[in-house]
Amino acid sequence: MLSVVEVVTALVLVGVAYWWLSWKRYERKLKWIPKAPGHPIFGNVLEFGKSTDTLRVFSGYMKQCNGLCAVDLMVKKMVVISDLKFLEFLLTSTKILDKSREYGFLHRWLGDGLLTAKAARWRKSRKIITPAFHFSILGKFVSIYESNADVMIKLLEKEVGKDSVDIYTYVTLCTLDIICETSMGVKINAQMNRQSDYVFAVKEMCRITVDRGFSPIKQLDILYPLTKDFHKELRYVKTLHSHTESVIRARKLALQNNHSENDMQAAEKPKNIYEEELGAKKKVAFLDLLLQARVDGQPLPDWYIREEVDTLMFEGHDTTGAALSFALCCLAENQEVQARAVEEQRTIFGKDTNRPITFDDIQAMKYLELVIKETLRIYPSVPFHARNTDMDVEYKDGQIIPKGTSLVVYVYGVNNNPEVFPNPEKFNPMRFENMEKTSPFAYLPFSAGPRNCIGQKFAMHEMKVVLSKVLRNYELLPAIPKHEVQLAAETVLKSANGIKIRLKYRNLN
Ligand code: HEM
Repeated sequence: MLSVVEVVTALVLVGVAYWWLSWKRYERKLKWIPKAPGHPIFGNVLEFGKSTDTLRVFSGYMKQCNGLCAVDLMVKKMVVISDLKFLEFLLTSTKILDKSREYGFLHRWLGDGLLTAKAARWRKSRKIITPAFHFSILGKFVSIYESNADVMIKLLEKEVGKDSVDIYTYVTLCTLDIICETSMGVKINAQMNRQSDYVFAVKEMCRITVDRGFSPIKQLDILYPLTKDFHKELRYVKTLHSHTESVIRARKLALQNNHSENDMQAAEKPKNIYEEELGAKKKVAFLDLLLQARVDGQPLPDWYIREEVDTLMFEGHDTTGAALSFALCCLAENQEVQARAVEEQRTIFGKDTNRPITFDDIQAMKYLELVIKETLRIYPSVPFHARNTDMDVEYKDGQIIPKGTSLVVYVYGVNNNPEVFPNPEKFNPMRFENMEKTSPFAYLPFSAGPRNCIGQKFAMHEMKVVLSKVLRNYELLPAIPKHEVQLAAETVLKSANGIKIRLKYRNLN
């Protein structure tokens, strides 16, 4: 008769053998992809330390393996990619739509919102939300971008004349105000009220998510609840959800009251997924549009709307905040580019710093658009993102990407490839004047294909408005002493030592 110990030992051995054989089978399938040289036991896992190391490590892989590299993380492999052919295959695939496991760290806050959703829910949501980013709706947001940029311009006055100012916090609080007002229709005044619970919870949740990605203990679902951050996360998520939920309740009530007044007229109108009247005449938040949406005649449940609104909040402020901060830094360091951008502003507005910006003005800011594109090339706000295969997928000629592989799109590497962008470290907006012959997969700040960034037009408009206001009010100069940014690849690209410039009042005469 076998003892309990013997049975347990046998089961463990069978488990280990099964795991080992599966791992070997997995490795065989992935053999066609060049491997990053690593430690015989720990693979490449020890190479990932601080977020300031990640870009250097990934760029090293790309050089060693020519744009397609299998990286061994002991319990799984990730494939890091900057090869254009493979990127085209991946980003246009209708089979590899799920995001990698790390996106699950956002689940408590964002649920299955657009960014993190698996393919089935994503297809449904993308169809519902796409019309909310139509030009006719975005046009109504221009005054929201501008009024919040005005608050920032005022706050920056106290920094004028100093040797240096870290503009990152000013800018991200401004973009946080903008995304709250456009997505929920409420002002949170983050710029004026930095201590609010809501603002604090948003910032902390961004930090916690990043920390989890890089901490071996916090990454594991089984150990994470033992950490302080887990308990903080529960508190912050409660604050964030109760805020969004109370806004949803209030907006719903306001819309119902509005509807009962207009019932007769509404009954005669043609039905679209959104009430056309709302988008066409009034300034409405994304939330209102989601409340108006009908799927098979039914409104969307509140929890579903909350997940989508929270996702826009997360994805829509840090990305634009980082891009704007880097753009201001590039303009400060490239005076001839700044002079040309200011000249364009002068052509559009004359010497007037107060005339409200119109949608047509935004379309006329052609050079500023090149400046933003070049900024996002050198400093892509999302430096990499990742998909996960939920089944074996054939690339070509029997080359298989096995189930459970993380496929990392290395945006930073793609955007800084010297074969596509000669002298990639040089800030040269004019290189974007003639990009017709360049592959659409050679420049990926907003990703590409069906899961690309839904907010890219919104982001471009917002960034043009904010930059236009700053450029017409302030001269941007390099900080004293000269500041070198230390890039840190977090959920969003940051600079570990801040983004510092110097400000002077601008005289437009
Ligand atoms: C400079 C600004 C921005 C950049 C560089 C950027 C970049 C990106 C990238 C690279 C992705 C793909 C991420 C992935 O696959 O994991 C993405 C997705 C997304 N972005 Fe943006 N983004 C920006 C601004 C915005 C704004 C302002 C919004 C909302 C108002 C937004 C909403 C979203 C959403 C909802 C997704 C998920 C789309 C989907 O999976 O269907 N983004 N963004």
